Amino acid sequence: MSEGEAFLEPGPASERQALNLGSLLTTRGLSGDAALRVLDIAESFFDVSRRAVRKVPALRGKTLLNVFFEASTRTRTSFELAGKRLSMDVVNLSGSSSSSTKGETLLDTIRTLEAMRPDVVVIRHAASGAAAYIAERSGVTVINGGDGTHQHPTQALLDAFTIRKHKQHFAGLRVAICGDILHSRVARSNAILLKTLGADVHVAAPLTLLPPEVETLGVTMHKRIEPAIEGADVVMMLRIQRERLSGTFLPTLREFSRTFGLNAARLKLAKPDAIVMHPGPMNRGVEIAPDVADGAQSVILDQVEAGVAVRMAVLWLLSQERRN
Ligand code: CP
Repeated sequence: MSEGEAFLEPGPASERQALNLGSLLTTRGLSGDAALRVLDIAESFFDVSRRAVRKVPALRGKTLLNVFFEASTRTRTSFELAGKRLSMDVVNLSGSSSSSTKGETLLDTIRTLEAMRPDVVVIRHAASGAAAYIAERSGVTVINGGDGTHQHPTQALLDAFTIRKHKQHFAGLRVAICGDILHSRVARSNAILLKTLGADVHVAAPLTLLPPEVETLGVTMHKRIEPAIEGADVVMMLRIQRERLSGTFLPTLREFSRTFGLNAARLKLAKPDAIVMHPGPMNRGVEIAPDVADGAQSVILDQVEAGVAVRMAVLWLLSQERRN
């Protein structure tokens, strides 16, 4: 038995199985059992970050490469901390300082990095499908750290972890996901995972930011925010992605804030014990009022803390799988 396994004792062997995914690219196809296994392992890692010595030897000798072609604060930092708290060697590469700026292709970049024998590569890229493209063409274990408007699976898992911490279950829980659904990989990843886990998912956006295909995920769509958050247990606000707006989607940000922003009055429509979530980064005063973001119902910083534990769990599970 390795020290990593010993660390996770006690616990039945079935809880310590790998994910059997090869790579983590999307929440689509992730079974409820596999997702819950990630959350359970994350629970066992959660307290590591609260100790005086925030490190366990679980993945000593393994190497993590964080390759980020898009800006990130939470995902990049929490993967780095997750790797280091598992005793991995961690290397960070940003697109702007890589040889991609000299014309090297994404595939050549990954093949070059693969030759240095990492165990896991986390990639963030502006192109939807970039993580799958790499996973299909290389032998490396890939974690999708966010690809374009497509998927951000570890964000959905950390959101599920946060919801379970506060609500203890998913079945029948009413979750409202509101804001810029069109450009949001977080919305897609969360809608799929939360439906798998049995939640009643509602999405709300102005018509121009509400892609019709979202309905195929089995969620209820709303063109106004009020009916979505009425009676909600969880209100998840999404960032207006100014960098992906061409100007034709919204009249003005002020108008969006007035008609769609989550303020204290609108939050009263949700259940009194509803939690408020936001994956970050927030546009304060646009999709969420500052007093709500900082209010008693906000669990936004809990999401950030959960991110480290969930990413530790994903790294550990995928590494077990690679070993097997
Ligand atoms: N939620 C999220 O992905 O945040 P970052 O862009 O800061 O990583």
